[in-house]
Amino acid sequence: MKVTKSDITISAVAPKQYPDEGYPEIALAGRSNVGKSSFINKMINRKALARTSSKPGKTQTLNFYLINEVFHFVDVPGYGYAKVSKKEREAWGRMLETYFSERENLKATILVVDLRHEPTKDDISMYEFLKHYELPVIVVATKLDKLKKSQIHKHIKRVKDTLQLDAGDVVVPFSSETGQGKDEAWREIERFL
Ligand code: GTP
Ligand code: MG
Repeated sequence: MKVTKSDITISAVAPKQYPDEGYPEIALAGRSNVGKSSFINKMINRKALARTSSKPGKTQTLNFYLINEVFHFVDVPGYGYAKVSKKEREAWGRMLETYFSERENLKATILVVDLRHEPTKDDISMYEFLKHYELPVIVVATKLDKLKKSQIHKHIKRVKDTLQLDAGDVVVPFSSETGQGKDEAWREIERFL
């Protein structure tokens, strides 16, 4: 998709704030600081529409970005961030569970993992949670630029094996630094729009 228009529609914490124009939604999921917001920016050629940070815990609400007046990217807070209080973590958990389990507009979720590392327990739980709700999942393995070429194949296989990826699901190696994987990511997303 050639993106010519992108804007924030709303930052929401509860269903009554979700946009109601009926656009399909592609949501992000993944560990805090893995690169979800950076992924959105790279895909839409914007430097900082989605706010990013080198410190985890930057995204704290469900942020709906309208792309080409065709669909919303929904940026979400990451999981696994130890520094937020238990109470806050629980509130985020409820917010995410409500969105992922109830949202009719949600067409597919991009589960972002770090290609350098083995997926965590939380990553596995998230994948299983999405499968449980029969939501399509696209796994994007980011920070590809941090790996040597010779390591890439082995690391992709480890992501697939650790998540016990369904035969029909793909892993898209990606870099928000270089833009590698962008065309493939768009092809995967467009299947659900
Ligand atoms: P939360 O909002 O806290 O959940 O984090 P997030 O998943 O949205 O991560 P964010 O996009 O804010 O990126 C976190 C850090 O990782 C930033 O310093 C980014 O510059 C860096 N980063 C993200 N993607 C890549 C990538 O592909 N390569 C490299 N080298 N750095 C990346
Ligand atoms: Mg973020």
